Amino acid sequence: MKDAKWIKAPYDFKLAGVTFQKQILLKNTVKKATLYASCMGVYDAFIDNKKVGDAVLAPGWTSYLKHVQYQKYDVTNMLKNGSVLSLSCGQGWAVGHIGNHSTNHISSIEICAVASLKVTYVDGKTEHFRTNNSWDTYTSDVLFSEIYDGETQDKTVPITNVGKAVEVKIKTKLIPQIGEWIVEHERLAPIKLFTTPKGERVIDFGQNMTGYVEFKLKAKRGEKIAITHAEVLDKDGNFYNENYRLAKNLMTYICSGNDDIFKPKHTFQGFRYIRLDEFPDIEINLDNIRAVVVHSDMERTGDFKCGNEKINQLYHNVIWGQKSNYLDVPTDCPQRDERLGWTGDTQVFCRTASINYNVYKFFRKWLTDLRADQREDGAVCGIIPIVRTGKAIGGTRLSAGWGDAVCICPWEVYLAYGDTTILKENFTAMKKWVEYIRKAGNEEYLWLSGLHYGDWLAMDAGENEYIGATSNDLIASVFYAYSTLLLVKAGKVLGKDVTEYEELYNNILKRFREYFIPNGELLEQYPYTEIITFKHKPVDIYRKGLTQTALVLILHFNMCEQKDRARFTEMLVKMIENNGMRMTTGFLGTPYILHALSENGRADIAYKLLLQEKIPSWLYSVNHGATTMWEHWDSLKEDGSFWSTDMNSFNHYAYGAVYDWLFGVSVGIKPREDMPGYKAVDIAPHPNKELGFADASIKTAYGKIRVKWYYKNDTVHYEISVPQAVTANLTLPSGYKTMLSGGEYVFAE
Ligand code: BGC
Repeated sequence: MKDAKWIKAPYDFKLAGVTFQKQILLKNTVKKATLYASCMGVYDAFIDNKKVGDAVLAPGWTSYLKHVQYQKYDVTNMLKNGSVLSLSCGQGWAVGHIGNHSTNHISSIEICAVASLKVTYVDGKTEHFRTNNSWDTYTSDVLFSEIYDGETQDKTVPITNVGKAVEVKIKTKLIPQIGEWIVEHERLAPIKLFTTPKGERVIDFGQNMTGYVEFKLKAKRGEKIAITHAEVLDKDGNFYNENYRLAKNLMTYICSGNDDIFKPKHTFQGFRYIRLDEFPDIEINLDNIRAVVVHSDMERTGDFKCGNEKINQLYHNVIWGQKSNYLDVPTDCPQRDERLGWTGDTQVFCRTASINYNVYKFFRKWLTDLRADQREDGAVCGIIPIVRTGKAIGGTRLSAGWGDAVCICPWEVYLAYGDTTILKENFTAMKKWVEYIRKAGNEEYLWLSGLHYGDWLAMDAGENEYIGATSNDLIASVFYAYSTLLLVKAGKVLGKDVTEYEELYNNILKRFREYFIPNGELLEQYPYTEIITFKHKPVDIYRKGLTQTALVLILHFNMCEQKDRARFTEMLVKMIENNGMRMTTGFLGTPYILHALSENGRADIAYKLLLQEKIPSWLYSVNHGATTMWEHWDSLKEDGSFWSTDMNSFNHYAYGAVYDWLFGVSVGIKPREDMPGYKAVDIAPHPNKELGFADASIKTAYGKIRVKWYYKNDTVHYEISVPQAVTANLTLPSGYKTMLSGGEYVFAE
């Protein structure tokens, strides 16, 4: 790729697709041909109109100001003398609105492509065909394409040569692909076509998902298909897409008059339903319409089922939340005008993600972007890759629980796969983040002040508010401690001297206890030191100290003295009971609440929360037909109305982090820190009669680990498989402990 030139069209194609093309004249018979290609935008490579490879939306989404991946394809069998190599490009993330949040299309950034075709002839000589100003530029049948807004394809427009490409200088560094390929997966058949009370024709695919709809049809030349997407119907059964906010998700196709196959070339949508706004005057054949699921090509590693169908549906929703939001970057949601790599959502779901799928490459790539976008002073913003807004850092807050992804994700990936590379690569970034916090707070050992997202969307946030009632200073200081602890752990794995950070951790703990737990008591309220901005204002000028989330974080992250543990656990249990056995927690309390309870002997209450069906609960959404995780506990209210239009995604995986409790505590499989990657595991099941049985497995580098428990009357039976190279420390509820090595085991008690 070294000598290939970046090229662009002779004039700015703005929102339309553009194709760069070159005829390849060969000197001899080809032994091997390899194509390297990339784009500022997204591209598909073709040789003689045949698509190269099966990736879509290449080169994926990276921190484009710093680096962009290039892909490598073996094209030996495709290339002939005189073949035409073309790169068909659209705006994608780098050029489109999504990567440039304040303006739609920044004029200085145009679609650019780069490629190098390396040919080795049978005589051993090599020749390179590289992009430069000898390539031709063609128009495309894509007249408009934008990730949020959709695409217009017109099969009737002539494709014309508009002149030679222009060479451009791009500062962005080209790096080989680190992440997974983005590819098409399942093709879902429609479950029904129906007419809504408003008289609109709607197709239901039965599953909320990310990807696009493919149509095969033959209609009159010039006839039009126009479709819009939605995740849910409203209470009257009408098509509802107001929660997509500004993202239009409109696909428009103009038919050629011959057999056509339509699907987007440079965009994707998050949806379960489509509305046929316009359709040719022909019979609709559902066999020719498919919803194509698109996500990063990760290997599925985890599996789970239990005796409660609602929990099984919840697990299904967690998996589909991951499929829908692991499209090259871990995103908050796949449908509205966000689809961004929100760091908070990413860190809370990271452990669950690593159980469900092999996410090593996926995270290695995203963490490369995180490091590239980390500010000089160590600050990590709310969205990675950063989206250009013209404002300070990515236009987001430097928030506790979000920026901490820099410490939490490498550690979780290390635990799951045992590879120290991820720690080596990220250690300096982890340290810089801890140092950033050290200076950001009003005190060295606490993170007071700052602008945070807090316990985002918690139920104690107050009507129409986003940030929960828990003191942000308390939350920020807990995450300061946790990130410092992970830095210490990572440093020890890497054989570094981390004495300074061990001391820092101890000082944070000491100061936290003095400030937040004076005399062993949590204060009802703490003075509030944050900056307030419009719409994200707190419920009152004091932030609460005594909330479920505060107790959960203190217990789970070991912030209190041992002597206060039982009392705090009881306080948490009382608060849950007084709230009708329900949570008030949001994004930062919910992932840990079940852990905080079961770690302190109250798995009984954890199960009650897990099996709760009233708002707020995981099963409420299941009872209301969810096929993915909802952003808000009451995204859809009891009366069928919606929580809001502006923060109401039905495909937001954050609360899906509950699966790491089902796997790690209910079934009871946990990787050990001293032998990560599941080389050694702790197995400590917590059976529960209402769940009936639970059966989970994970495919590791050493083989499949599986634990099943089930009830026969009052006796619990256990079936455990441990691969040859793995050792497992088993603890059964009676307290019986034993060490298992490779083999199949059964127990009963
Ligand atoms: C996103 C969240 C994100 C949050 C920041 C929202 O708009 O959808 O999931 O973490 O902003 O608080």
